[in-house]
Amino acid sequence: MMNRTLRFFLINSILLLSIQGTAQTYAKNGMVVSSDRTSSEIGVEILKKGGNAIDAAIATAFSLAVTHPAAGNIGGGGFIVFMNRDGKVTTLDFREKAPLAATPDMYLDDDGKVIEDSNHKTAKAIGVPGTVAGLYMAHQKYGKLSWKELVQPAIDQAEKGFPFNWSLYRAANRFHEQEDGTEFMKNYFLTKKGTIPEPGDLWKQPQLAETLKLIRDKGRDGFYKGSTATKIASWMKENGGLITKKDLKKYEAIERKPIQGNYKGYDIYSMPPPSSGGVVLVEMMNLMELADFKKAEFNSAAHLHLLIEAMRRAYADRAEHLGDPDFNPDIPIEKLTSKAFAQKRFAGIDMSRASVSDSTKYGHPYDGESTTHLSTMDKFGNAVSMTYTLEYSYGSKLGSTELGFIFNNEMGDFNPQPGITNSRGQIGSQPNLIAPEKRMLSSMTPTIVGKNGKPYLVIGSPGGRTIINTVFQTTLNVLEFEMRIDKAIEALKIHHQWLPDQVVYEKDLLSPDTRKILESMGHTFRERYNMGALMGITYDSDKKLMTGASDAAQPDSGASGY
Ligand code: GLY
Repeated sequence: MMNRTLRFFLINSILLLSIQGTAQTYAKNGMVVSSDRTSSEIGVEILKKGGNAIDAAIATAFSLAVTHPAAGNIGGGGFIVFMNRDGKVTTLDFREKAPLAATPDMYLDDDGKVIEDSNHKTAKAIGVPGTVAGLYMAHQKYGKLSWKELVQPAIDQAEKGFPFNWSLYRAANRFHEQEDGTEFMKNYFLTKKGTIPEPGDLWKQPQLAETLKLIRDKGRDGFYKGSTATKIASWMKENGGLITKKDLKKYEAIERKPIQGNYKGYDIYSMPPPSSGGVVLVEMMNLMELADFKKAEFNSAAHLHLLIEAMRRAYADRAEHLGDPDFNPDIPIEKLTSKAFAQKRFAGIDMSRASVSDSTKYGHPYDGESTTHLSTMDKFGNAVSMTYTLEYSYGSKLGSTELGFIFNNEMGDFNPQPGITNSRGQIGSQPNLIAPEKRMLSSMTPTIVGKNGKPYLVIGSPGGRTIINTVFQTTLNVLEFEMRIDKAIEALKIHHQWLPDQVVYEKDLLSPDTRKILESMGHTFRERYNMGALMGITYDSDKKLMTGASDAAQPDSGASGY
């Protein structure tokens, strides 16, 4: 046990590192920005060894599964947007999917009502994980270094340990004291002696290291087949989950064409369905292109009103139309992302008062917060924007002790009650109802903005349904208001999602005078501490300079470059 002085020093070093994480970092040769500074540094080591942005993203993502288990994962899923050195953009979808035994009414009681928490807090809430398949596909198609070199740093962190940070310490205590928590989370952080590590102690995860070794040695088959698959399937059987060995064997990541938009000459590339992120982002940016920001200065009531009205409209369209494209072949993506559609939508905005969201026409309560984003760039000119998630913070809070990782609770992103859309924000529209092997609709919005065929902004965020709006506002802050990346990330964020008809804003950042003006126009407000945790890079192709910044909302995050 270390003495008090050393412990004090370590805690303060951790805090100091956190503060550094929020400032800008400049680099010429490569940059990684993620929710954990040590994971970003692992990504940069990969770049220094000659790896590309995809390699760095893969190594950082595996590392985050060790250092940031609230959202970093191998038991969840996510998306990658990749711009190569020639300016060509592609995306990889490794979203979780519903098990073969899933049904549209699997969470309903005999009266047709959702059994409370059943789609979020039970083993039935776990979707078939996609992360390992997605990272493996990214490597097979676009990686440069060997797969083993990319997985090994995470194994070293899990096996030899890494300094237990303040966020993990707080979470460990919270889970340990929680009376209604899961046994798995109660024990998750404990050392061999059964104690919670102190901040600064090396935290080791031997079972996770063994699971990662199989992935290192066998690739995707080390997760979806063999002993890991057998252990997942038997855990599911014992605990009431639906995932079988067949579900795991059948899982495939999918390469998809990006959603493309344009804002005043900048090219926007983002994630297509099964994420709603790209469609909703482009629809809102198209609406903003029609606004006159000389009359709607940054953070004025007029500016915020425009943002709210754009969000209201685009989120209503999201609720009505979006879901897994493999189950909804007719999603009107071209229409929703067209300039003509934005013209029509913009015409309905009254600059003097709030519109009303109508639940009979067409919402989901605020959903999971714990997703995580990472952005990477290499010296060759490739860029990666990757967001992945377990849905809630620490996902389902369930897992197999033998395997050492946490299962997602992503099934909660499906519409749970067919046909029921209400003013509290529940959505019951058809495109996102549960079906076997269907992917649940996401809000993750990994985005790359290009200028003259080169990356200009690489951005993304966690935050459930707020993700699209925080990425939207940060993108607008950079492109329209010409903010530096760190300022754009830290500026006030608001959120409206059509239903509930309410504006959520970040405490202390919205002027009370402005709020009163907006209230007099018919808007209603709710405050929260902060929104999102954006991880971004801007690139100046003339100076060949990368600038990275991570959001202060994520205290252990950091940009690292060389
Ligand atoms: N689970 C959060 C999302 O996919 O949007």
